[in-house]
Amino acid sequence: MASAGRIQDKVAIVTGGGSGIGRAIALRFGAEGAKVVVADINDAAAGKVAKEIEAGGGTAMAVKTDVSNEESVDNLFDQTVKTYGTVDVLVNNAGLVDTERHFLEGDAAWWDRIIAVNLRSVFLCGHRAAQIMARKGEGSIINLSSGGATKAHRGNAAYDAAKGGIEALTRAMCLDLGPYGVRVNALVPGSIDSKGMSAEARKYRADTVPLGRIGEPDDLAGPALFLASDDAKYVTGQVTVSDGGMLAQQRSPQVDIFPHSKYPKV
Ligand SMILES: NC(=O)c1ccc[n+]([C@@H]2O[C@H](COP(=O)([O-])OP(=O)(O)OC[C@H]3O[C@@H](n4cnc5c(N)ncnc54)[C@H](O)[C@@H]3O)[C@@H](O)[C@H]2O)c1
Repeated sequence: MASAGRIQDKVAIVTGGGSGIGRAIALRFGAEGAKVVVADINDAAAGKVAKEIEAGGGTAMAVKTDVSNEESVDNLFDQTVKTYGTVDVLVNNAGLVDTERHFLEGDAAWWDRIIAVNLRSVFLCGHRAAQIMARKGEGSIINLSSGGATKAHRGNAAYDAAKGGIEALTRAMCLDLGPYGVRVNALVPGSIDSKGMSAEARKYRADTVPLGRIGEPDDLAGPALFLASDDAKYVTGQVTVSDGGMLAQQRSPQVDIFPHSKYPKV
């Protein structure tokens, strides 16, 4: 008899599941037995991922969703409950990532849009999920943050503020939802090639990573699965980092006072 998956029959919503990290998490959840709801503003991409999960023997559906819009989020949860009966896992992954502007050149529309898609969305989706999960007495919410919550990216004030907000919100939700059995954790990707960079760009980034390689979307799938599963049943309010060691270093290898060239040969 085939063994059950690690999140067998759990209903899992993955926002931004149409591409990149969200797609990798959705595919892994599908392979581990979950009923996956792929929620993305790009419905063609979401539909493709749902089909990939089904082609692998899993269960999935796509729901076109704008995570910054309350009505659209309500529709996502209504469709999910109508089709699969409940929500056990929510991955708040959707976000705008190419948002660079120098602080001096930022304006209120830029700020509001990034905060709406990257932070307000976590409240909107988290609030709907928590209502369902609290009544059941269990559930797992995973919020995608960034190293930018801890150490700033240049030209990314709004993005980094949203991610800092996500980590604070994760801890606040952990306290408010813990008594109802709902766990809430943040997941931090490092430098992940979610869009297919050139070989040159990959090498340039890889040289700054302690593990010596750029991250792949699938590098987040295992940590997300752990946080979603009962293996993490006593883990809540935490920031889990999958970044090849980026946040652990003071300086990148190129400018460190003890360069790689001095490392012993083994
Ligand atoms: N790639 C990285 O290196 C990296 C690093 C740190 C954090 N992250 C975080 O990981 C998450 C995923 O990043 P990625 O690199 O896979 O990005 P991506 O651009 O490949 O995927 C983001 C997905 O979100 C969807 N989306 C955008 N706006 C939406 C909206 N309003 N409603 C619903 N869906 C929407 C897009 O259509 C897309 O499918 C983001 O939260 C990002 O901030 C990524």
